[in-house]
Amino acid sequence: MANQKLVMANWKMNTTYSEAMVLISGVLRRCEDLENVKIVFFPPSIWLVPIKEQYKQALLGAQNIYSFAQGPYTGEISAEMLRGIAKYALVGHSERRTIFNEDDSLINAKLHAAFRANLIPVMAVGEEEPIKIENLTDEQILDKITSSILGKSLLASTRGLKSDQWEKLIISYEPIWAIGTGHNASGEYAARVIRSLRQIIKKEINETIASDISILYGGSVTRHNAADYAGYKTIDGVLVGGASLKIAEFSSIAESFSVSNKWDKSNEVS
Ligand code: PGA
Repeated sequence: MANQKLVMANWKMNTTYSEAMVLISGVLRRCEDLENVKIVFFPPSIWLVPIKEQYKQALLGAQNIYSFAQGPYTGEISAEMLRGIAKYALVGHSERRTIFNEDDSLINAKLHAAFRANLIPVMAVGEEEPIKIENLTDEQILDKITSSILGKSLLASTRGLKSDQWEKLIISYEPIWAIGTGHNASGEYAARVIRSLRQIIKKEINETIASDISILYGGSVTRHNAADYAGYKTIDGVLVGGASLKIAEFSSIAESFSVSNKWDKSNEVS
């Protein structure tokens, strides 16, 4: 992908209208001079249009989409409706999977719907419990992940994607045990798992996509641990929940990624 790290703000079901406007304007102001980093905001869908109208420069994503373009689906928003408003769409977040019972086949349908509407999907996958990877070789970790929910979910959720879609897809590796808990995965753990995900993609899809696809980490990222992730070339950025609601905190996370340039990660896939 581009020579830029991605720092994404998932506001979840937070912010009133005025809080949303204060938050976005504060972050945009604090981060306007940052180089080598692309910041994407996922506000509640109801604030997408007012934000878009007032801050044309903001890159926006939807926190959720439905798999159909229109119809009798009360309360849902389709990817088609987001054309011209949002550029990205989050699919497969663990809160959608667990609280709203979304399974891999629905997520797969949403992924295809996003591509049909020209949105860039950010697909989240993650395991429920920490994987015991200490003292294991990369090969052993790969075996473990391939046969785990994580590996299976990655492939089931992306079924039927064409290679030009794989080229656009962004994956966010989000261990469920780390989301909103304050127990973040270490940079080393995240990097080792992400390398395995690239290996799975290399085997199932192809080497170029495995190397070029953007894979982020998400789960209790703060200003204190962001630099740890930014230090690994295989980690293309972060998806931030709780800490994205504070202007100074989130801007400082973005700064950590701005100072770390995109390294050549070609030797990380083989
Ligand atoms: P968190 O959320 O940063 O609050 O752990 C991350 C996420 O849900 O993507």
